[in-house]
Amino acid sequence: SPTLIIAVDGYSSCGKSTTAKQVAARLGYAYIDTGAMYRAVTLFFLRNGVELDDADGIRRALDSISISFRFDPVTGRNETYLNGDPVEGEIRMLYVANAVSKVSALPQVRQSMVTLQHQMGKKRGIVMDGRDIGTHVFPDAELKVFMTADPLIRAERRQAELLAKGTIVGLNEILENIKKRDHDDTTRAVSPLRRAHDSILLDTSYRTVDEQIEWVIQAARERM
Ligand code: C5P
Repeated sequence: SPTLIIAVDGYSSCGKSTTAKQVAARLGYAYIDTGAMYRAVTLFFLRNGVELDDADGIRRALDSISISFRFDPVTGRNETYLNGDPVEGEIRMLYVANAVSKVSALPQVRQSMVTLQHQMGKKRGIVMDGRDIGTHVFPDAELKVFMTADPLIRAERRQAELLAKGTIVGLNEILENIKKRDHDDTTRAVSPLRRAHDSILLDTSYRTVDEQIEWVIQAARERM
């Protein structure tokens, strides 16, 4: 059975990475979190004072950055490394999240990450999640999943997640943040979030995580 490239794109907080990781684990595939790559670049820029209007500085920074992953299919944990240092915890912090959309909109940054993503996918047998994987990075992927969910339901899930970590945030604040990210991701000039015409739509509003995973695995098996 051929090894596939599986592209998982969609809106923020739809359960993309949760689904993609478990599908990768079940199929014995590699998992590539492209959002983590943009977050890691953002962290490097912040740590090294790289200015977003300094094309030469950005070039030098991108040339000196190496990003890698270690995915444990048993625990489902994915560690991101920036120049050899584990940064998974740090890149999830709010100060990184707040800066990432400006960094990920830079054409130089996108070009450099897409080159890396092509290398990571060369051996196939990968599940890659992001915003532009099916439309831009791997337009020939055998399976393209586009994930969406009702914004209010996404906000409620995120609120419950935060609450489980001991953080109380109002539903409206979360909903506004989700709507802003949807807007930013779909309206940016370079590789905006779009549903690929040959993708299959996975609306997670009324599905459990296990149902989502089963649904994608089934679609993958049909393509093997
Ligand atoms: O998926 P995650 O929330 O970690 O992604 C962080 C940010 O990185 C997104 O809000 C988006 O701006 C950017 N991104 C992107 N292209 C991708 C993946 C993520 O522009 N393929």
